[in-house]
Amino acid sequence: MGVALIVLAAGRGTRMNSDLPKVLHEIGQSPLLHHAMAAGMALEPERMIVVAGHGAEAVERAASRFDEGIVTVRQESQDGTGHAVQQARAALEGFSGDVIVLYGDTPFIRPDTLEAMLAARARADVVVLGFEAADPGRYGRLVTTGDALDRIVEFKDANEAIRAITLCNSGVIAADRDTLFSLLDRVCNDNASGEYYLTDIVGLAREAGLSAEVVRCDEAETLGINTRAELAAAEAAFQTRIRREVMEDGVTLPAPETVTFARDTAVGRDTVIEPNVVFGPGVTIESGAKIRAFSHLEGCHVSRGATVGPFARLRPGAELAEEVHVGNFVEIKNAQIGTGAKVNHLTYLGDADIGAGSNVGAGTITCNYDGVFKHRTTVGRDAFIGSNTMLVAPVTLGDGAMTATGTVVTHNVPAGDMAVGRTKQTNKPGFATRFFDKLRAAKAAKSKDN
Ligand code: UD1
Ligand code: CA
Repeated sequence: MGVALIVLAAGRGTRMNSDLPKVLHEIGQSPLLHHAMAAGMALEPERMIVVAGHGAEAVERAASRFDEGIVTVRQESQDGTGHAVQQARAALEGFSGDVIVLYGDTPFIRPDTLEAMLAARARADVVVLGFEAADPGRYGRLVTTGDALDRIVEFKDANEAIRAITLCNSGVIAADRDTLFSLLDRVCNDNASGEYYLTDIVGLAREAGLSAEVVRCDEAETLGINTRAELAAAEAAFQTRIRREVMEDGVTLPAPETVTFARDTAVGRDTVIEPNVVFGPGVTIESGAKIRAFSHLEGCHVSRGATVGPFARLRPGAELAEEVHVGNFVEIKNAQIGTGAKVNHLTYLGDADIGAGSNVGAGTITCNYDGVFKHRTTVGRDAFIGSNTMLVAPVTLGDGAMTATGTVVTHNVPAGDMAVGRTKQTNKPGFATRFFDKLRAAKAAKSKDN
């Protein structure tokens, strides 16, 4: 039986004090929404529906950036979590199976936990994810009898006895689609907030003779983000976790606390990542690579055995083949660097293909932008680009071609040829000695005058 997910992301998030909708604030350089969606995607759902409201256009764009197949629906007024789920009803027309409701601002739910909830559905009609709260604060309280869940009471509506309960509602709920919507139809808003609470479906289920059960998880997993301070704490917790996972996967981090990962960073075994490396989104590194200190990588692929940095910048579309060497103060964007090629110092390569075994000298720059259009530079295999070469794109250099140091390459260089494009050197015998003698004499005369 298939599963569908509804991700609630319509709330304002007032306490973030931000123009950005709360679910678009980032952890590990991905919006909170993407973290929640990724957890849900691990179940390979038949459908995923994101409910947007505040900042709906931006939230919808972010949802389809994650996956083009995502359906978004709008909740025009935020009348509660139950009302939010109702907005997804039409989008689930024709689907039969279990529905899991997730919150877009709760990024750390693990796929295993969602699997455990689906497994519990074999025993209960409604399954709620709960946790023992160190400080239950304003969470909804889970009222239980043994293993059975009787009802959920929101903090605002709870008396002292119920507020003393420490088993709290995470917000994640699973039920069969038909059960979920028929219960939601009976939810009303006669409560302290005047909202339609999703949580009311538990009490309604029990009244209707259905069963409800709690699946428990760690409080850390259900952490919701409400303030900037919580966002920072969540970022720290996320980085700690991903560093540990990366090391468990066989990656060496001599100073793990200085390396910043993105949600989707993938690193192969026996790679070494030196201190103060920052990963933006979309980086994959194969095994046995070395990322040296103070490098910044984003949207790029580094193959087996390649070396990057120190102080290198790989931007989106940088593809390094095996055994490539990229050294200090090198920036690479939208460029393929072939097997074993070396780009060791002070270079910009943008919109380029560099053939296997080529050597790119210090200070080389692809002049890829004419102010309006971007153009490509193609260099063949085993070419030798002399230091301080300007490659004015579009331009192609053949296999084994060479450029003399300081050359401005404005037209193609055939295979095996050398391009020289610089003024010819002339020497003026004794000029330097005479010139400096004259200046020093002038300086001495001036200091005598004063
Ligand atoms: C909710 C639960 C509470 C639980 C807590 C866990 C209800 C009634 N209460 O309370 O039992 O302990 O979460 O964090 O469900 N949202 C919408 N539309 C709305 C209202 C909310 O999309 O009209 C979304 C929000 O964007 C957010 C999520 O639903 O992602 C939770 O909403 P929030 O207002 O934070 O609920 P709580 O009061 O915290
Ligand atoms: Ca909340």
